[in-house]
Amino acid sequence: MSVLAVLSALSLVGAAQAEYTVVRRTSLAPRSQEAAVLPPAEFSIPFTGKVSQRKSKKSALAALRGKSSSTVVVDGSDFDEEYLTNVTVGGQHFSLIVDTGSSDTWVPQVGFDCFDLDGNPLAEADCFFGTPGFNIAASKTFKLFPNVSFNITYGDGEFLSGPVGFDTVAVGGVSVTGQEIGVPNLAAWEGDGVNTGLIGLAFPDLTSVYNTTDPTRASAANQLPYDPFFFSAVKQKKVANPFFSVALDRGTFEQQENDPFDPNLGFLALGGIAPVAVVDTAVTVPIEGYSATTGIPENGPGSDFFFYTVDVESFTFPGSSKLVTKLNNTILDTGTTLNYVPTDIALAYNAQFKPKAINDPDFGAFVVACNATVPAFEVTIGGKTFSIDGRDQILPAGTDNEGNLICITGTADGGPALADNIFILGDVFLHNVVATFNPIAGEITLTQRATY
Ligand SMILES: *[C@@H]1O[C@H](CO)[C@@H](O)[C@H](O)[C@H]1NC(C)=O
Ligand SMILES: *[C@@H]1O[C@H](CO)[C@@H](O)[C@H](O)[C@H]1NC(C)=O
Ligand SMILES: *[C@@H]1O[C@H](CO)[C@@H](O)[C@H](O)[C@H]1NC(C)=O
Ligand SMILES: *[C@@H]1O[C@H](CO)[C@@H](O)[C@H](O)[C@H]1NC(C)=O
Ligand SMILES: *[C@@H]1O[C@H](CO)[C@@H](O)[C@H](O)[C@H]1NC(C)=O
Ligand SMILES: *[C@@H]1O[C@H](CO)[C@@H](O)[C@H](O)[C@H]1NC(C)=O
Repeated sequence: MSVLAVLSALSLVGAAQAEYTVVRRTSLAPRSQEAAVLPPAEFSIPFTGKVSQRKSKKSALAALRGKSSSTVVVDGSDFDEEYLTNVTVGGQHFSLIVDTGSSDTWVPQVGFDCFDLDGNPLAEADCFFGTPGFNIAASKTFKLFPNVSFNITYGDGEFLSGPVGFDTVAVGGVSVTGQEIGVPNLAAWEGDGVNTGLIGLAFPDLTSVYNTTDPTRASAANQLPYDPFFFSAVKQKKVANPFFSVALDRGTFEQQENDPFDPNLGFLALGGIAPVAVVDTAVTVPIEGYSATTGIPENGPGSDFFFYTVDVESFTFPGSSKLVTKLNNTILDTGTTLNYVPTDIALAYNAQFKPKAINDPDFGAFVVACNATVPAFEVTIGGKTFSIDGRDQILPAGTDNEGNLICITGTADGGPALADNIFILGDVFLHNVVATFNPIAGEITLTQRATY
């Protein structure tokens, strides 16, 4: 499944620091407060959705399994819904994945080399991008950034590397000039036949450009942090308010299972709040930073900002009172499909499905009967409790050899509850809220959506 949070950032300690004072500030918001009153968005750009291409997803599962063959053969993993939006780069049109779990915007350049996740060469078509890529020569506005390189690895094992440049990037009505972008010529990417790259909306310190001509020599010591697209939009005064908002609609089960393209899956809203129906439950909380010395979440004058990290006060579900569910290192990530919570929480919650969901290492998720009864699951942040619709907790995940549908739950094991482990609230959670990110003030406003 998609885990489009940047992996390299997991070694947060010692990462180079960006020059942008804007991200050094600590939020003025108290630990929790009444939600900020947000204006409607100036620019609302529709999301479309696509589930990953069957063939490529099959190889992804093979890669997850390593070399050993396994019991379940899957001919598709259709649960992997991605949120895409139209973007132009140097006047060329692309559908890009919108990712709050990383910071770089990139499009592969025409003629790139395609690889599988183990680094074995593949035909270019096997990366399943939606277009042949970005034609640098055809852009009148592209400028190469000499002697540096782009190198990124995502949490699901996809990776890219190659040159870096600057070009005009436009999303909806917001056009940023001279935006730094990756134009990789090497891609290990499990595409969906629609997207041709990704737009990252997290912080400058999470960017992936390095002062070396050889991308294999990328390291924290030679990182050259830069302003991602939304930071540039704010600096260039292309938005009146320094926040963006996402409303990710859940696709129907039937669409996810049968029809991989979903033309209308919510909104990316720039400069305001996304135009969808909400209820009164709302809160504004600070974005947590990380200690520059220990890498542990903190929100002090010395913290570095990478992800949209929030303090989770508790997860609530049948039986949860027996567990510690407070967690201060959880990110809100549009590029990740499932929620990844600490092992003990994942085990306890999945045991409450009727029939029980069973952890399956082949899927990296809990397999469950598609018609199982879903236990309630709530997330308390800043003193307000947000509920996750049961429909988000069962996802179609392909078929077995006999053609029977396999389902997984929306809540997966993110590893032990260690302070330097990062947990994820992905699309399973984000389907239920409007999330408004203000990276300049260092605040996030969450608003529960009306049932849809
Ligand atoms: C996105 O771009 C494609 C082709 O470039 C166009 O057909 C489609 O209507 C656009 N979608 C939206 C939502 O603007
Ligand atoms: C890039 O590197 C080459 C060779 O190392 C050098 O000649 C050139 O001046 C460098 N360019 C810039 C802009 O630093
Ligand atoms: C890259 O490092 C060299 C020294 O190794 C330095 O002269 C140059 O200014 C650096 N480039 C950037 C863009 O910081
Ligand atoms: C990216 O950099 C790492 C070192 O930080 C290196 O091991 C890896 O091979 C590089 N990836 C690519 C695709 O060059
Ligand atoms: C987050 O939790 C860790 C322990 O899990 C603790 O060391 C750290 O101080 C906490 N940070 C904040 C800001 O609460
Ligand atoms: C769920 O589906 C299974 C077969 O897939 C069936 O045997 C069972 O009766 C169903 N349960 C309910 C509650 O519908």
